[in-house]
Amino acid sequence: MPSTWTPTSWRAFPVVQQPDWPDEGDLERALKQIASYPPLVFAGEARSLQNALAQVSAGNAFLLQAGDCAESFDDFSANNIREKLRVILQMAVVLTYSLGVPTVKVGRIAGQFAKPRSSATEKIGDLEIPSFRGHIVNDPTPTPAARIPDPDRLVQAYHQSASTLNLVRAFTKGGFADLSRVHAWTQEFVGSSPEGQRYEQLATEIDRALRFMRACGVDTENTSSLHEVDVYTSHEALLLGYEEALTRQDSLTGGWYDCSAHMLWIGERTRQLDGAHIEFLRGVGNPVGCKIGAATDVDYVLELCQALNPARVPGRLTLISRMGADKVEDALRPLLRAVTDAGHPVVWACDPMHANTFTSTSGHKTRHFDDILREISGFVNAHRAEGTWPGGIHVELTGDNVTECLGGADDLQVADLVDRYHTVCDPRLNARQGLDLAFAVAELIRSSGFA
Ligand code: TRP
Ligand code: MN
Repeated sequence: MPSTWTPTSWRAFPVVQQPDWPDEGDLERALKQIASYPPLVFAGEARSLQNALAQVSAGNAFLLQAGDCAESFDDFSANNIREKLRVILQMAVVLTYSLGVPTVKVGRIAGQFAKPRSSATEKIGDLEIPSFRGHIVNDPTPTPAARIPDPDRLVQAYHQSASTLNLVRAFTKGGFADLSRVHAWTQEFVGSSPEGQRYEQLATEIDRALRFMRACGVDTENTSSLHEVDVYTSHEALLLGYEEALTRQDSLTGGWYDCSAHMLWIGERTRQLDGAHIEFLRGVGNPVGCKIGAATDVDYVLELCQALNPARVPGRLTLISRMGADKVEDALRPLLRAVTDAGHPVVWACDPMHANTFTSTSGHKTRHFDDILREISGFVNAHRAEGTWPGGIHVELTGDNVTECLGGADDLQVADLVDRYHTVCDPRLNARQGLDLAFAVAELIRSSGFA
């Protein structure tokens, strides 16, 4: 029987991947300040997302979780947020139209700042300095001073998340996401490309469908679902002090919610069953996710489901596999079978990015579009074989025209990486590659007989 949960009960458990804050007093002050600020999201919204995810777990909807590997304090502008949203909307419209089921849209946005690291320090020449842990902790400049964790950054991350979320809400409810603007979401650098043309064709079909509905007497003007979307926020719940400071009791239900984002996930490096991260997330009412790698075994997954979703609430738990293109099919199948047999209603999502990362001959951390697609293909095959629903994808992308991942419709080469390699962490798909991926995923799922 687990002991009583409180927002601070995680503090009695072993905790990994926390920064070495130089001064406990400064940290306390920053966290206290955040705890006094308004919540970023509301419990009712987190419940709406959970209901939408319940539809995914039942095979009636698809999850698109997408955004930056790590948000940046430097890349913080209306442009940046709008472009990211634009590619997410384009991908969502492609998926929704092609699959014929709703797409649940969740951004890695408005709080995705903290990064786990495989090593606490890195070598720069002869110097050993603390690793970069995301802008919420320290500065990426490779000097000892820049890498000292600074608690003021926690406060800055809160404020940036609040402004980002404000703009996301404005764009999604204020006309930008209107289905009648489906043509207008095309960026210039995408429009002329093959995937851009394909998108234009689909947009024209949607226009015709809307006109057809109007002709049939449907009042499209006054149907708000055609003019607005819900884009939910999510990030890795890594810095537990920060998450605790934004955890609030819902006045309606009395339950506790982590109001830093609608959905939180636990990373591959912090998912110890007896660790602080699972202890913390088991007690909040938000929908939660957990990344699972190729070495994950059946016993572990069943205990994980039991720990995070003992009441077996559909939509509460999303398992995000990140196994690698070569391994996913064989590694995932026994997990699908065991979780289904145990009667746990999870959402299965595919992160095709993180286990397909390598360093190119140019020295850039990169990923190849073909490997990303191959992992999704293996994921879909595993689901087809086990009779389960390949519920969604979890990808790292940006709306900008970066050159960070290889391949895709314009077949980026190693020599191109140096052009516009801007990420503060992992390589992201650019807008064209994102759109390309959406078409390819829809085709994979349909050709597997799912939709
Ligand atoms: N509200 C619906 C949805 O979210 C339809 C919709 C409106 C939509 N604008 C959109 C879908 C933009 C995808 C992208 O599914
Ligand atoms: Mn990443």
